[in-house]
Amino acid sequence: MQSTNVLVLGGGPAGYVTAIRTAQAGISTVLVERANPGGTCLNIGCIPSKALIHAADKFHSLGANGDAAQLGIMAQPPTLDLPQLNEWKRGIVSQLTEGVQALLKRAGVQVVQGEATVIDGKTVEVNGVGGDAGKRLRFVCQHLVLATGSAPMALPMLPFGGRVISSTEALEQSSLPASLAVIGAGYIGVELGMAYAKLGSRVTLIEAQGRILPAWDAALTRPVQRRLQALGVDLLLNTRLESGDADSGVLKLSQESGAPREIQADRILVAVGRAPRSREAGLDSLMLDMDGPYIRVDEQCRTSMRQVWAIGDITGEPMLAHRAMAQAEVVAAVIAGERRRFEPAAIPAVCYSDPEVVVAGMLPEEAKGRAGDVLSATFPFSGNGRALTLNQVDGFVRVVARRDDHRILGWQAVGPSVSELAAAFTHSIEMCSRLEDIAGTVHAHPTLTEAMQEAALKALGAGLHG
Ligand code: NAI
Repeated sequence: MQSTNVLVLGGGPAGYVTAIRTAQAGISTVLVERANPGGTCLNIGCIPSKALIHAADKFHSLGANGDAAQLGIMAQPPTLDLPQLNEWKRGIVSQLTEGVQALLKRAGVQVVQGEATVIDGKTVEVNGVGGDAGKRLRFVCQHLVLATGSAPMALPMLPFGGRVISSTEALEQSSLPASLAVIGAGYIGVELGMAYAKLGSRVTLIEAQGRILPAWDAALTRPVQRRLQALGVDLLLNTRLESGDADSGVLKLSQESGAPREIQADRILVAVGRAPRSREAGLDSLMLDMDGPYIRVDEQCRTSMRQVWAIGDITGEPMLAHRAMAQAEVVAAVIAGERRRFEPAAIPAVCYSDPEVVVAGMLPEEAKGRAGDVLSATFPFSGNGRALTLNQVDGFVRVVARRDDHRILGWQAVGPSVSELAAAFTHSIEMCSRLEDIAGTVHAHPTLTEAMQEAALKALGAGLHG
C-alpha cells in the first residue's frame, strides 16, 4: 500500500497534463496508465492521423489527378511505400510519447504502468505493474482524477474484427485496401475517408444524415463535399447500414428515398462516434452522478464525490484533446489551492479534411437563437492572394457578431490550412473583440488571415477586396 496526494487515472492529454502540473506544484502525484503515455491523441488519434493525411495529400498532389502538373512539376506517377509511411508516422508518435515520458519524469510524477481498478474514491489497485502479470500495487490518495478517455463506438450489427476496423486500425494498415467503405461522415470518416481516397483506395462514405459533418451548416461543409466528389468518393447520404457480413464485406444499406442497396468493400471503417470509458476500471462502483454516458462535473471538474475529479472525454462533448488539456490545467490549479474555473468563451474545433474546416464560437443559426439580432459576413478565398498562390481557393472565412455592439460571437472557415486560424479566431472571442478591432488590426500580406480582416470589414459594410 502506498499513499499519494494525487492519483491520476489515465495518461492521455487530460491525465498527463494534470499530473505534470500537480507535480510541478510540489504535490505528490501518481499517474496510472496501461499503455504508453499520450493516450488516444498521441498514439492512435490526432497525431498519427494528421501524419497519414499529410502523406496522402503529398502522394495525391503528385499523381495524375493532383495539381503538380498545373504548377509545372512533372513527376513520374508516384508509388506508395506504405510500410515506410507507417514507420515515419510511428517515429513521430514515439518522439512525442517519449517527450511526454520525459516531462512526467522531470516534473517528479511517479508513472505506474498497469491496469487500474478503482476500489473507492480514495483507493486504486493496479494489476500487472510494469508488464508483470503477478505484480499488484495499491494506492491511497487524497485526490482521484479520472481521465480514462473514450473508445471507438461499435455497431451492434457489425462488430470490429477482420475487415471491420476502427480508426485505430485504419491508422496502421499494412496494405492499401482496394476498396474502403466508411460508415459515418463525421470528423473521422471524412478525414480518413479522404486520406484513403488520395492514397488510391476506392472509397464509399455512408452517412445517416443529409450531409457530411452534420454538426456544421451546409455552406461550411459544401467545399469539402465538392472535394470528396472530385476525388471520386462515392457519397451515400441519408443512408443507414442495415446489416453487414464481415467475412464477405457485403453491406446492406437502406436509403431515405430509393431502393435498398448493397455494396461490397475490402475493408469497412466504422466511424460513428466515440464512447466514454466512464463505466470501466471500477468507475461504475463509485455511483457518480452521470449525464447520460458521461460523468457529470461542475465548472471546476468536480464530480458528485468529494475530491474525485473527472476530465477529458469521459465528461462529454466536445471530445477534443485541447479541451481535455484545458480542464486538466484547471483541476491541477484547484487542487494546488487556486481559485479557477473551466469556462472558456470558445473551444475551437478543426476537421483536417481537404479543405480544412475550423469553427470557434457560435455558428450563424446558433447565434441568432442565443443572441438575437446578429450580423454575419463571408469573405471567399478566391479574393485572397495567398490562397491563390497555394492553388486552393474553394472556401471562405465567416464572422458572426452582435448587431448592436459588433461583439464577435463566432468564426468559421473552410479552406487551405485554416486550422492555423483557430488561435486568432479563439483569441478574438476570448478577448471580447469587436468587428472594429479585427478590421483595424494590420494583417500581414499575403496571408490567409487577411480573409479575417476582410470578413470583419464586410460585416461593417466596408469590404475592400470583395
Ligand atoms: P462523429 O460524431 O464526428 O461522427 C459520426 C457520424 O456518424 C455522424 O455524422 C453520424 O450521423 C454518423 N452515423 C452514426 N451512426 C450511423 C449509421 N448507423 N450509419 C451511417 N452513419 C451513421 O464521430 P467520429 O467521426 O467517430 O469522431 C469521434 C470523435 O473523435 C469526434 O466527436 C471528435 O471528438 C474526435 N475527433 C476529433 C478530430 C479532430 O479534432 N480533428 C478528428 C477525429 C476525431
